Amino acid sequence: MAKLIHGVRFIAGALALAVFIAMAAPASAQQGAPVNPTASAVKEQQLLQELGRIQGRGSIPDVKSYTLEQPAGREWRHFHEVTLRWIGAIAVLGMLALLVFFYLWRGMVKIESGRSGRKIERFNAFERLVHWMTATCFIVLAISGLNITFGKPLLLPLMGPEAFTTWSELAKYAHNYLSFPFTIGVVLIFLMWIGGNIPNSVDVEWVKRGGGIVGDDHPPAYRFNAGQKMIYWIVVIGGGASAVTGYLLLFPFYATGIEGMQIAQIVHAVVAMLFIAAMLGHIYIGTIGMEGAFEAMGEGTVDVNWAKEHHRLWLEEELRRSPKGTTRAQPAE
Ligand code: HEM
Repeated sequence: MAKLIHGVRFIAGALALAVFIAMAAPASAQQGAPVNPTASAVKEQQLLQELGRIQGRGSIPDVKSYTLEQPAGREWRHFHEVTLRWIGAIAVLGMLALLVFFYLWRGMVKIESGRSGRKIERFNAFERLVHWMTATCFIVLAISGLNITFGKPLLLPLMGPEAFTTWSELAKYAHNYLSFPFTIGVVLIFLMWIGGNIPNSVDVEWVKRGGGIVGDDHPPAYRFNAGQKMIYWIVVIGGGASAVTGYLLLFPFYATGIEGMQIAQIVHAVVAMLFIAAMLGHIYIGTIGMEGAFEAMGEGTVDVNWAKEHHRLWLEEELRRSPKGTTRAQPAE
């Protein structure tokens, strides 16, 4: 009897084991099996992992629209929603904080020997027109671009959906159309001032002596000092890079596919943030950072003592070329 019970137990155990193996086998076989993307019950996540994208079939000629999801799209979205906002906030707010501290520490750089009452032309009317056209476009491009990056988290809750939509639509049109005069401005700046912006040995000396803005020194400089040359090249290279990448985005799929556009957007946005930070520094020195600098681009002339202190070699060249090149400043009425 005991033998019989033992035998039954053995058979029951063997049967249970066989059933367990039979049930487990399809599951393990399923894991390694290739996915059939057209199967009706295929899982989205599994498909994304296996194929790297979720793609269907379509009936319109634009085959790009058949791709519904791709992993690079998720990485790009994370860049746009998180990483870019950090880069932008650190670059722009960091530069603003730096300028505030610098101003509190250094104050305005004054014309040390006072105003001479004589003026010399620094930028002609055409140069000033090009500068202000490019600068105005740049400011609108910067504000409308920052709205794409930061508008949704910062302005939408304040303005409400309707006002935010109207403003964003307007800003987007401005960004698209002002890109053309801005690009023309960058090309003209490149051609107009390239002659004075090739680095030379005077720049090394200028940097070594703190450029006259960190200390009270007045290192000699030709028409543009090393700091201004740096701004020039930032405008030419930064402006060129934002134009090329911007037009790739403005005219989608003409020159590149979706991956190229994702790269173009990343380069465009990062260059834009650094460009804005650099221009804040430029605006600071041209206004509250240095006495007598703004009038160079405002009226086109500077005080001779300002020129002596900041651009002595240029002033000497100008006076050699035209000894009577200075005019008496009009007394204020
Ligand atoms: C010169 C030509 C430029 C062109 C053709 C251009 C074009 C574009 C386009 C098409 C977009 C994408 C807009 C969208 O997603 O709907 C964009 C975004 C942007 N642009 Fe420009 N842009 C130019 C210059 C600039 C400049 C000079 C700046 C900065 C001062 C700038 C800052 C930005 C910023 C911050 C974004 C948003 C990035 C993001 O969050 O995705 N752009 N631009």
